[in-house]
Amino acid sequence: MTAPAQPVDLFDLVIFGGTGDLAVRKLLPALFHRYVDGQIQDGSRIIGVAREALDEDGYRNQIRSALSGAVISQPAKLDAFLKRVHYCSLDARKDEGWDDFASLLAKQPGHVRVFYLSTSPELFVDICQRLGHCGLNQDKSRVVLEKPIGKDLASANRINDDVGRVFDESQTFRIDHYLGKETVQNLLALRFGNALFEPLWNAGHIDHVQITVAETLGVERRGPYYDTAGALRDMVQNHMLQLLCMVAMEPPASLSPDSVRDEKLKVLHALKPIDGGNASQFTVRGQYRAGAAQGHSVPGYIEDLNADSKVKVEKSNTETFVALKAEIGNWRWSGVPFYLRTGKRLADRVSEIVVAFKPVPHSIFTAAAGPLAQNRLVLRLQPDEGVKLWLTIKHPGPGGLRLRHVPLDMSFAEAFGVQQPDAYERLLLDVVRGNPTLFMRRDEVEAAWRWADPILAAWMASGEAPRPYTAGTWGPSAAVALIERDGRTWDEDDE
Ligand code: BG6
Repeated sequence: MTAPAQPVDLFDLVIFGGTGDLAVRKLLPALFHRYVDGQIQDGSRIIGVAREALDEDGYRNQIRSALSGAVISQPAKLDAFLKRVHYCSLDARKDEGWDDFASLLAKQPGHVRVFYLSTSPELFVDICQRLGHCGLNQDKSRVVLEKPIGKDLASANRINDDVGRVFDESQTFRIDHYLGKETVQNLLALRFGNALFEPLWNAGHIDHVQITVAETLGVERRGPYYDTAGALRDMVQNHMLQLLCMVAMEPPASLSPDSVRDEKLKVLHALKPIDGGNASQFTVRGQYRAGAAQGHSVPGYIEDLNADSKVKVEKSNTETFVALKAEIGNWRWSGVPFYLRTGKRLADRVSEIVVAFKPVPHSIFTAAAGPLAQNRLVLRLQPDEGVKLWLTIKHPGPGGLRLRHVPLDMSFAEAFGVQQPDAYERLLLDVVRGNPTLFMRRDEVEAAWRWADPILAAWMASGEAPRPYTAGTWGPSAAVALIERDGRTWDEDDE
């Protein structure tokens, strides 16, 4: 059983980029699921905004086909949901259409208003200025900014300043969908709802932490964006640093938004710099070449880029894989490496956090008992969300005392008998509720860029191309060497 869902206040949720991939694949299905669960009251409206000249029926049909897989068993619910969906054709850079859009919103002045900017960041400022000029920012308005916020500290500052001229920080929700994942929130419960872990959660007892976000997909149809970003900007500066913060932060005084975010910020500030002096030692970048994924041959990164673009390229210096060793310079974590690894077209789709504890200080067992493995706490974000605690026990039965390493294994799906909600379901309704705990504050985004910028600069200055790796593998061999140099290995096989 899941916790019962509480309905939220009536709202108008405007999705700029309403025909885009994120809106159709993630945001609208998330809203539909919350509607089916009774959290969205009739009267609330979802307004897709895009440049395409579509009428409302045309837009609803697009959404109907995007949702059809999920709703075969509930066609009546889908019809009712689609009645909540509206469409406005608007160009953020042109005057036409804004008056009609303002009149549509004016019909429900009491609703919470959410402006979700699911567009390229270059449009954030234009859209916010228009919203400001049209007087659409009222008391209960909020704006949601999709990542990436800029491509470095300077551009992030410009965006934040410009958006800040229209919306207060308290109205600005910078989304990082990893924070909405059930297992990530469960980290809070696990760390701070149990007396068991916190006394051990420090350099005295933890050997190292690994965070892996591995994807089997390539860049798909997002080549034009991805090639200007790369894995460090796309995944590490945001999702992976947020995961690192949730693992490493001090216990916040409460779950109030600023208590949690203040603690995360301290971690970001304590990250030791990686720059021209040590980037070659602490980071590895890679780029996939043709190979195989799930039994099919797949093209390399350059072919993927060229498949969708009119301008063909012969090479690119963009990384589709990063592995790095981060260190946190504070009392709790001194000397405990955090190994981070993410990439496209890797061997498996898996996101997990592994907390590896130090070995016991002295073994009382003979060599015949077998090796003593480290305790590990594995938080699996996807797929098969759950928690495993690896323990050493005696191999059952006669034959002497032989040791075995086995997991206390809790799969959330098995334990609770339900599919975990998508991260966007939780986060979208948190915006309506006005709860920013799971969103990034401006200073967090800036601190993350302040750490990431020197890495990007060091890579640029070195002029080295990313190391090639075959699609369907775990990335370049240098990523294995990065951790093996320290006498450790990536946690890949559950043993
Ligand atoms: C996005 C990145 O933020 O997260 C994508 O831009 C990536 O490149 C995606 O594929 C991964 O999200 P998830 O939830 O599928 O792990």
